[in-house]
Amino acid sequence: MDAKPQLPVLDRRERPLRELRVSVTDRCNLRCSYCMPREAFGSDHRFLPRAEILSFEEIYRTCRVLTGLGVRKVRITGGEPLLRAELPKLVRMLAALPDVDLALTTNGSLLERYAAPLRDAGLGRVTVSLDSLDPDVFRKMSDSDVSVAQVLRGVEAALRVGLRPVKINAVVRRGVNDGGVIALAKHFKGTGVVVRFIEYMDVGSTNRWQPADVVPAARIVERIAAELPLAPCSGPSGVAERYRYADGSGEIGVIASVTAPFCGTCSRARLSADGRLFTCLFATAGVDLRPALRDAEGDAELADLVRRTWQTRTDRYSELRASAPPRRRIEMSYIGG
Ligand code: GTP
Ligand code: 5AD
Ligand code: SF4
Ligand code: SF4
Repeated sequence: MDAKPQLPVLDRRERPLRELRVSVTDRCNLRCSYCMPREAFGSDHRFLPRAEILSFEEIYRTCRVLTGLGVRKVRITGGEPLLRAELPKLVRMLAALPDVDLALTTNGSLLERYAAPLRDAGLGRVTVSLDSLDPDVFRKMSDSDVSVAQVLRGVEAALRVGLRPVKINAVVRRGVNDGGVIALAKHFKGTGVVVRFIEYMDVGSTNRWQPADVVPAARIVERIAAELPLAPCSGPSGVAERYRYADGSGEIGVIASVTAPFCGTCSRARLSADGRLFTCLFATAGVDLRPALRDAEGDAELADLVRRTWQTRTDRYSELRASAPPRRRIEMSYIGG
């Protein structure tokens, strides 16, 4: 076996492949208006048939091959990943990959039940989506029977079993939940939970996004800092700009994907539940990995296909948003949030 360290795989803009987001199901028990609006994801929506969904073995193999190409962070997403039967089994398989930061994004509704089994299976940390603490606003945005209290119990369970750091993702939509930003920050201040406020994006083709729906991250920081003094954090931050409370009681983050795009450092690939590899959240098509996955001996073939796909990547949608022609884009519930 060749023990030489592998050179990173670079795309056309010299960005290495470092992160993989794995969607394990396109189903969700919520119908967030910005992600799966009920008028588009109602009873006649066709979800992926079971036969087309990758097995845990296939997902594991894809992750193993991609870690060989430089991936160091794997995030399990959906839809809602905890709807996938026996998810802790997959976590156990992926946790055995060396040098991988393994995380999960969930809506939290089933987390109270799954936090301990996920931790026991080797999960590192969780990110929970929670857009508002106000029951009415939450119900309006998530359009389901899931309650804020249920999600908060999931967050508590994650903290209790040590799935840290727990992060909260809150998508901010002007006139809908922006009035609750400070309440969210205050609620988690001093608990070790990091709340990240996300600019609402035009991802997919069903959420009827309008530029006026976006509250710029800079305004969100200003509003919070006016009540709870903040200072910027130095050091690496990924997609979030990080701020710490001046009194030392923790930090928050903002993800300015619309007003300050981070395509220049984007090292994320996405694997859909049916085995397609996407090189951008705003892609219109992915590369089908299943033919290579069907060949049990074909690791080299799979690695070649991924390497070639990444090496030809030019994506930077968020930087081009204003001039990008309208196209039918993949939905976030399919490609992984
Ligand atoms: P950590 O590993 O905890 O640092 O996670 P992260 O900072 O990568 O954040 P997370 O995966 O929780 O992503 C948070 C949100 O940022 C997502 O739900 C998206 O809304 C947005 N986001 C993440 N990655 C991308 C990306 O590649 N492009 C764009 N435009 N938005 C992204
Ligand atoms: N804009 C911004 N973030 C979104 N998410 C889903 N849809 C959108 C959107 N339109 C993100 C949220 C959620 C995760 C699963 O996906 O952060 O927490
Ligand atoms: Fe489900 Fe998350 Fe999409 Fe909401 S944002 S509909 S919880 S996948
Ligand atoms: Fe990466 Fe595409 Fe998001 Fe830019 S728009 S940061 S290239 S996923």
